[in-house]
Amino acid sequence: MSKVLIVYGSSTGNTQSIAEKVGELIRAAGHEANVVNAGEVAPDNLTEGYDAALFGCSAWGEEELEMQDDFLPLFEAFDKAGLSGRKVAAFASGDQTYTHFCGAVDAIEERARELGATVIADGLKMEGDATADPDAVDAFAQAVIKNL
Ligand SMILES: Cc1cc2nc3c(=O)[nH]c(=O)nc-3n(C[C@H](O)[C@H](O)[C@H](O)COP(=O)(O)O)c2cc1C
Repeated sequence: MSKVLIVYGSSTGNTQSIAEKVGELIRAAGHEANVVNAGEVAPDNLTEGYDAALFGCSAWGEEELEMQDDFLPLFEAFDKAGLSGRKVAAFASGDQTYTHFCGAVDAIEERARELGATVIADGLKMEGDATADPDAVDAFAQAVIKNL
């Protein structure tokens, strides 16, 4: 059994619903999953003791990528979160009409790699909440589970 931390930043609940569904699927596979709001956790050693950390964050910029408000302080302190050697994957709900569709996913993967993490699944980028594309959510969760 592996222990997975799922941290989300979500303003209208879409990314939160993906986080919760992924957590359910991970638990259904016999692992432990803790789902937490980025606004309610401190970055320091956040991922210590977990086999993997999944990060979900929506984007709110126009031309530039702007990370969701609750997630941004965590992202800015990512170097304190204990990511070196950690298994990581990223997900987001977004809107394809924006320049940086689910842009936080790429930013999280890039920064996590810089900090020595291993990205274990292709980032999930989708529109709407978890019910809008259950197959995509399931495929993401299964890819994570396979690499735990
Ligand atoms: C002003 C504004 C800027 C946005 N910028 C982006 C963006 O850069 N990339 C993107 O994929 N979606 C963008 N969106 C869409 C939201 O990220 C999308 O509605 C998402 O599902 C919200 O997820 P959340 O409920 O988890 O916060 C933007 C929406 C607004 C209103």
